[in-house]
Amino acid sequence: MKNKSYKILFVCLGNICRSPAAEGVMKKISADKELNFEIDSAGLISYHQGEHPDSRMISTAKRRGYPLNHHARKIEAQDFEYYDVIIGMDGDNIRRLNQLCPEKYRNKIHKISEYFIEVKDYDTVPDPYYGDMDDFDNVITLLEDACEGIAQKLSM
Ligand code: 4NP
Repeated sequence: MKNKSYKILFVCLGNICRSPAAEGVMKKISADKELNFEIDSAGLISYHQGEHPDSRMISTAKRRGYPLNHHARKIEAQDFEYYDVIIGMDGDNIRRLNQLCPEKYRNKIHKISEYFIEVKDYDTVPDPYYGDMDDFDNVITLLEDACEGIAQKLSM
């Protein structure tokens, strides 16, 4: 096989802004590079369960070339077994993931900033929910760099 297969789960708090955008960006990069990745996203709270991504995230992602097609869901116990790599967006996400995750799977949990290539001045993808449209645009910029890094690391 050309590339090893990986199952990747992106996680943020609400699963309506950052992680569905990460899912969209990673799916595009994965398709373009013909990588054998299975990609999904989930949230740490169930407040937005079943909802489409935030309309500001949908429009920003669409403008940047990433159609989003996801319904919010809360992370479940079996996700920690099923996925190979579980990627949180900030320190709070990582703390909550570590609390939920059985110890034997904790090595699957990674912070998105581990994968930045060009980005040097962030160690998170900041929550844009209470921000403005520039904050949503910045989410896509940060995710493009991180997802390129993920593609590079996992296809070595
Ligand atoms: P996300 O942003 O974690 O990037 O999806 C948020 C969306 C909603 C809420 C928090 C963060 N909320 O508390 O409703």
